[in-house]
Amino acid sequence: MNTSEIRDGLSHNEKRLLLALKETGTVTPAELIASRTFDIEVEVMGAASWLSSKGLVRMDESSSKFYVMIDKGIISKGLPERRALAAIGDRGSIGMAELASCLPGGDDKIAVGWLKRKGLADISKDEERTVTLTDKGKAALTGKMKDEEMLERMSKGAVSENDADISVIKDLKGRQGMIDEKIITERSISLTDLGKKIIKMGIEVKEEVTQLTVELIQSGRWKDAEFRRYDVQTFAPSAFPAKKHPLSRLADEIRNIFVQMGFTEIDEEYVQPAFWNMDVLFTPQDHPARDIQDTFYLSDPSSIRIDDAGLVRKVKDIHETGGGTGSAGWGGTWSVEKAEQALLRTHTTVNTIKHLSAHPDPPVKVFSLSRIFRNESIDATHLPEFTQIEGIIVDEKGDFDMLVSLVKGFYGRMGFDKIRIRPAYFPYTEPSLEIEVFFNGKWMELGGAGIFRPEVTAPFNVKYPVLAWGFGFERLAMLKWNIKDIRDLYISDMDLLRKNTIF
Ligand code: PHE
Repeated sequence: MNTSEIRDGLSHNEKRLLLALKETGTVTPAELIASRTFDIEVEVMGAASWLSSKGLVRMDESSSKFYVMIDKGIISKGLPERRALAAIGDRGSIGMAELASCLPGGDDKIAVGWLKRKGLADISKDEERTVTLTDKGKAALTGKMKDEEMLERMSKGAVSENDADISVIKDLKGRQGMIDEKIITERSISLTDLGKKIIKMGIEVKEEVTQLTVELIQSGRWKDAEFRRYDVQTFAPSAFPAKKHPLSRLADEIRNIFVQMGFTEIDEEYVQPAFWNMDVLFTPQDHPARDIQDTFYLSDPSSIRIDDAGLVRKVKDIHETGGGTGSAGWGGTWSVEKAEQALLRTHTTVNTIKHLSAHPDPPVKVFSLSRIFRNESIDATHLPEFTQIEGIIVDEKGDFDMLVSLVKGFYGRMGFDKIRIRPAYFPYTEPSLEIEVFFNGKWMELGGAGIFRPEVTAPFNVKYPVLAWGFGFERLAMLKWNIKDIRDLYISDMDLLRKNTIF
């Protein structure tokens, strides 16, 4: 930022402070308030810290020691030795016994101690222990002693260590309940070279409008008003307001897209019998994906009964012989025990098939965005729990083209334009496709889709084509934010979450 930009960005208070510094080069907030340049210290300090962040002033802090009185009563009462001097008066001497009656409570001893120490009196060594004033003592009858003068000054306000006789202070500190030490910190503000330069350029102090109000607009006075300029480059503290986790935001975005396209969200339990997760989806019972290497089976409950005997019968027939769907089935014997095994769902296709079983007739447009589980070891691209974006459309005119345009439409809205479709295989769809997007110079697989086979739709009397898809949610997030390791998505690195602006 150049100097005229700095000057033009100065606030009213900053200008006033600079002009106050113009004369002296250095001021303290107290001086500015005493001279009525500013009303309150926070105003001064506010302007000073802005100027200092712009390099126009320097703020220094100096601490100094002050002395204050603990008990002002000593001024009217007098020091014990003063009271002893008064008791002796012009007589020049006094017996110890009489002194004790004048200064009760042990003050006579203290008084004698100080009279001797200050050389004001001598005490005879005989029985009487007469206290006799010295010449110095006689002189002290009138006028004030140094420590009395100091106490008097302190009774009017703190005395800086720089204006105090150290030996007097030392003696007073040595006496109980007399004086205290206090550290007072004073700030001073001084012009830097840059500050001087800006002042030389000329500073005009005028009232500036810092806030545009309704009143200003309505009255038309805004036309003549001088507006305070914004300095967008000055330092400002970062604010980290509460916000949603980036993954939640992405999920919201995806939900919005589907809702806008007329879809309704659905979900189901994580725990499912293999029947709904696999068998109704025509996944053979010896399919590798059903292996415990790939699927989390549960021990409690270890199985979930399928109550619908009619449906079980149909699914068994389809698996064993095709059940009149025109398919040859998988052959062999289908086991209901295997189908009743409890597991953590391995895909959200469970949601769609369950929904379809209850809503076989169009229009059906549902989606889910939910968690699934696979028995995989964790690495940069795999997690045992992840999220799928899944859905179906049941439509009289549904066909492969409609499916492709739906898939492309979704990724297009997510900001991925370069998409390709490849043939794929799933036990429950025909035709089946795989979606790949071009990212960072590579084609990356993002999900699968297809049209449900008759072996899947027949038991539920679905008469029209069912277009189905299942996309990876975390993959999408990685692509969107260029994250190389899937684990980074779930490590809640607060610093990254707070500061990262791409999310
Ligand atoms: N269920 C498949 C998966 O988990 C995705 C898919 C869903 C494919 C629907 C075709 C139809 O990868």
